[in-house]
Amino acid sequence: MGKLSPEMIKTGLATEFMGQEIICHQSIGSTNEVAKELAKRGVPQGTLVIAEQQTAGKGRRGRSWLAPPGSSLLISLILYPPLAASQVSHLTMASSLAVAYAIEETSRLTVHFKWPNDILLAGKKAGGILTETSISGEMLDYAVVGIGLNVNLNVRQIPNIASIATSVSMELGREVSRLELLQAFLRFMEREYHLLQHGESPSERWATRLSLIGQRIEVTTPWGQESGWAEGVDADGALILRRDDGTKAYITAGDVE
Ligand code: BTN
Repeated sequence: MGKLSPEMIKTGLATEFMGQEIICHQSIGSTNEVAKELAKRGVPQGTLVIAEQQTAGKGRRGRSWLAPPGSSLLISLILYPPLAASQVSHLTMASSLAVAYAIEETSRLTVHFKWPNDILLAGKKAGGILTETSISGEMLDYAVVGIGLNVNLNVRQIPNIASIATSVSMELGREVSRLELLQAFLRFMEREYHLLQHGESPSERWATRLSLIGQRIEVTTPWGQESGWAEGVDADGALILRRDDGTKAYITAGDVE
């Protein structure tokens, strides 16, 4: 299946503003970096940056994001959400839900999440979200939601992720239209964004799809290692961990082993 162009994406796109402005690159360092520069210039809300290939794609916690050209959706959305800096996770949760709804509308797959922001298919990572923000006072000035979704990726092409990752096409056993998935995502994202603007936290809907709840887990946080039972998440998406001494930890950042 072919390359995506702004004209193709906009044709029949049923949104008011999400993805109505599109910056499309064949090859770029990172769509998030481009999007942050555009956000500083105040481009319209919902502007989409998309690339067929990234040469310096960024994952969470300084990791890189690898995707062969044309295999994935590599996108960043520029938003100006009326959220406090402490609520940035609401935007990430809303974006994960929009990805899940888009995958499920266009296929028969079921999507789960791994805390804090992995998209899972059949228990393996099919995508991830990197939200970057600029803060003024207590509030977000702008947010860039970067999403990498393995759509038609054969994970065997990337040996170091082959055992832990998957893609929509690998789970479906056929190639998938990136265009259809992207347009569905933008439509669901606009709906989620309206809910956020009305003060609704997506955490309850997000939590129903979380893997590992009720299980014993190890979490690497920026402040050290924690272990215990994963009990759930709070309204801001913090992971609630019951430690062995009975105390609760509310973990806002980290990686679950
Ligand atoms: C993760 O670590 O799971 C988050 C990965 C996010 C990758 C996407 S690809 C499009 C956007 N541009 C980037 O440089 N990163 C995000």
